[in-house]
Amino acid sequence: MINNIALAGCGNVGTALLEILHEKKNELKEKYGFEYKVVLISDLMKGIVMDPEGLDLEKILNELHSRHSFGALAQAAGHFDELLDQSGATVLAECTPTNLKTGEPGLSHLRAALSRGISVTTTNKGPIAVAFDELCQLAEECGAKLSYEGVVMSGTPLIDMMKNGIAGCSVLGLEGILNGTTNFILTKMGEGATYADALAEATALGYAEADPSGDVEGWDAAVKVVILAKILFGKEIDVKDVTRIGITQVTPQQIAEARRGGFTIKLVAGIRFDSFGMHPYVMPKEIAATHPLAAINGATNAITVNTDNLGEITLVGPGAGRRETGQALLSDMIRMSR
Ligand code: HSE
Repeated sequence: MINNIALAGCGNVGTALLEILHEKKNELKEKYGFEYKVVLISDLMKGIVMDPEGLDLEKILNELHSRHSFGALAQAAGHFDELLDQSGATVLAECTPTNLKTGEPGLSHLRAALSRGISVTTTNKGPIAVAFDELCQLAEECGAKLSYEGVVMSGTPLIDMMKNGIAGCSVLGLEGILNGTTNFILTKMGEGATYADALAEATALGYAEADPSGDVEGWDAAVKVVILAKILFGKEIDVKDVTRIGITQVTPQQIAEARRGGFTIKLVAGIRFDSFGMHPYVMPKEIAATHPLAAINGATNAITVNTDNLGEITLVGPGAGRRETGQALLSDMIRMSR
């Protein structure tokens, strides 16, 4: 069956997805039996292109690379729901810049697709954090699938590991580095860069959120903790329930002082349990230089999951980035098409 792909959001991540699809068209068919047409691309800034017969990705990528827009190729207009109907989409890849607290506009896009029986992959944390149960129920009722590998650790397959790889294990707790931007900034500050320069570089590399206060104040990592609490433990918590301290107060002097004492400052996110219950948190922490998390630099993420049957498992990999997050959308689509 051919996958008719609609893409909502054609910024860094959406463009990277189109590049990978185009580059690997033959490989995807031969290795995974994954065949596709891109039938709709909708972007708030760049406009809309649609062709139920399949868009010419070569032409579209040329326009995007040279002008950062669809140029003269932009042809369609209309409400997203109607465009989904007209395009004949069978799967939606959703990666619009979405508000972490309301989940919009991603949440409306997901509802529109799922209610039409169109399967969805999203890298948007907002909708998954605020409406996980509703979206799963909607998908089930409408015979659609919902995947969200990219919401935590971008294309590094944490969600798949948790849902499938360690099936049968009980998770006893977890801690890790779940925000690439802040880890990049702390790494660069440790090398002598200023906070402002490091943040500007993280933004240019496509790691930071559209509003980077979401990263540096710990909101992004806190939302990821909310998602993990839901997926792993079935616990409904609000982002306000997460003890949250960002990195805005961390100074180069503190980083240098910690280093002299044999420590590295990292923004860690985790969930621990004690006799009082579950404790979700995000906070800067001094990590001994000998600990595996101390060696995680740049936008790389890492998580150590403590389980009953396997003991500790540590997964290390990219946590942000255009191609790394585009990969999450692709792997979800391949899995869903099987
Ligand atoms: N802004 C996020 C980060 C992107 O830096 O980790 C990936 O969720």
